[in-house]
Amino acid sequence: MTQIITVTNQKGGVGKTTTASALVCGLHQRGAKVLGIDLDPQGNLGFTLGLDIGSASTVYDVFKGNCSMEAAIAATEYGDVLPSDIMLSAAEVEFTAPRREFMLSDLLTGVRSRYDFIIIDTPPALNVLTVNAYVASDGLIVPMEAEVLSLVGVTQLQETIETVRDAFNPHLKVIGILINKFNGRLTLSKDILELAQEVAQQLDSQVFQAKIHRGVGVAMAPAHGQSVLTYQPDSRPAQDFQEIVDVVAGERFPRPKPTFRQKYISKFFN
Ligand SMILES: Nc1ncnc2c1ncn2[C@@H]1O[C@H](COP(=O)(O)OP(=O)(O)O)[C@@H](O)[C@H]1O
Ligand SMILES: [Mg+2]
Repeated sequence: MTQIITVTNQKGGVGKTTTASALVCGLHQRGAKVLGIDLDPQGNLGFTLGLDIGSASTVYDVFKGNCSMEAAIAATEYGDVLPSDIMLSAAEVEFTAPRREFMLSDLLTGVRSRYDFIIIDTPPALNVLTVNAYVASDGLIVPMEAEVLSLVGVTQLQETIETVRDAFNPHLKVIGILINKFNGRLTLSKDILELAQEVAQQLDSQVFQAKIHRGVGVAMAPAHGQSVLTYQPDSRPAQDFQEIVDVVAGERFPRPKPTFRQKYISKFFN
């Protein structure tokens, strides 16, 4: 069965694209068939996964009916990607037809059976694109930046989720809150964890056990067209993300056995 997961938070810079790309890459590493969909007009997911987004057909072309889903999906080293482009920023005013909330969901009916997982990256907004992602999804992952974690904005997110549940997709659940850019050395961290629990409670969800530590490799990886999972597989954030992939992949797609290097040598670099 295909599981469709949206990475969402209306705040920018919290790690949505980083998380989406780690999920695409990590699930692909385990042999799952994965499609990453970029619904952010900034087009970062495609770029992060090494796609030349300037020339490709995009999700915008598909929404417009100018291109088929099959033709716009691009194969990368890390799985299939449906890229985005800046044209998508006009979506709110451009797509006004009835059932506009179901554009993505309808398009996915034709291709979803080919994939084990579909991972959707979203813009830092709660707009028609985000709603399309929620309508098409089984679950949401909400990354939050540890150091500026707050309850501000959570009510808005919760309202959007509830609206989608009531009107379009009763099955939608929040898989978990993902704490990102975590610095275990700060005394602040206990407060952060408590706050995260409150946020999770409000969304009727849980905080992922694994926290994603801050690391320079995460910020450098996209410039190399990679996720941190392949760019610096032994780094702390990469290992943290693998734990999140464990949760998402479940027993169906277990971690590949560690190589000699991962087992013995990586110890010295952490
Ligand atoms: N754990 C981390 N450690 C260091 N830098 C990070 C981490 N997570 C994200 N970043 C950096 O923070 C910035 C915002 O992340 P991004 O995933 O693009 O957020 P969003 O998609 O929510 O806007 C990027 O430059 C990214 O490389
Ligand atoms: Mg992003």
